[in-house]
Amino acid sequence: MSEQRPRVLSGVQPTGALHLGNWLGAIRNWVALQDSHDTFFCVVDLHAITVPHDPARLAEDTLTTAALYLACGIDPGRSTVFVQSHVAAHSELCWLLNCVTPLNWLERMIQFKEKARKQGADVSAGLLDYPVLMAADILLYDADRVPVGEDQKQHLELARDIAQQRINARFAPRGADGEPLALLKVPEPLILGEGARVMSLTDGRSKMSKSDPNEASRITLLDTPELIVRKIKRAKTDPVMGLELGNPERPEADNLLGLYALLSGLGRERAVQECAAMGWGAFKPLLAEVVVEALRPIQQRYAELRRDPATLNAVLEAGRERASAVAEGTLARVRQALGFLRAR
Ligand code: TYM
Repeated sequence: MSEQRPRVLSGVQPTGALHLGNWLGAIRNWVALQDSHDTFFCVVDLHAITVPHDPARLAEDTLTTAALYLACGIDPGRSTVFVQSHVAAHSELCWLLNCVTPLNWLERMIQFKEKARKQGADVSAGLLDYPVLMAADILLYDADRVPVGEDQKQHLELARDIAQQRINARFAPRGADGEPLALLKVPEPLILGEGARVMSLTDGRSKMSKSDPNEASRITLLDTPELIVRKIKRAKTDPVMGLELGNPERPEADNLLGLYALLSGLGRERAVQECAAMGWGAFKPLLAEVVVEALRPIQQRYAELRRDPATLNAVLEAGRERASAVAEGTLARVRQALGFLRAR
């Protein structure tokens, strides 16, 4: 029965087309979890407005992201797929958590510091608050596990600390034996080694990112085969002959051969054997081909889904209903523990 399965929640921001990092670090792992877990996947549109955004694109990007979840193999028959802003409890729990989260916990978040540095004077309070909203997303669903890429580890630790130290330790009701009863479930991160950190095509030392102004730095799940070939052809290389994994002096070789190992299905050992003596000129077309072939079925399913907006909207509406029912229950528990007057 799905109720007894461990619960999973995760999400991606609808900021432009998703890239290989989002797929390999997160969504691909979600697909497998559907067999063994009670899975909730949201499109985190409230997170997408923590940096300046284009209102003319937000709704469309939200639909694109939801359609890509399904195209990648998320099955709405087994998973709850929904839009974060459709469930108002996310914003409300975020506020309640804000009031118990120390400011200095947020100021030391690496992702905040990096994004704030890039943005200069125009940093919003929402950007600082981003991880608290993320904590609310997770805690509302009593998630046991949160499958994410490596870059989200610190945010997951924050969510755990907020749940444990700031809510459960202070506000959990006591049982008959005087011991606190759990109010919020403390979630575990689920970060799988391979694909957890896909690097930029133009700099093997920085991660592939939607916010990099250089589009050549990433391959999106909707790039045409021609564009994929071109981006890989131009990807940064080094002057060394032969591909290898794990050499810190050769981050581009490690990243691109790692992608090849993963997407070809060969695995790391066999990919190394195949490419150890190969020059970049021979390797790049091979990599381009496996990327194109891996994305082809996703792109086909995506095109079908976008031709049928009624079905996609129905999936999101059913998801909203299921998600709201769970989220409202948790929110009511927290409101009561914090002492709010109940509305009549
Ligand atoms: P976002 O949209 O920045 O990233 C979505 C997911 O993609 C992973 N990821 C990567 N994995 C490997 N290599 C990369 N280069 C790479 N870039 C991104 C991220 O780790 C993430 O898993 N804050 C979250 C969104 C979020 C969330 C949540 C996640 C909001 N609420 C609740 C889990 C649970 C984020 O990073 O979005």
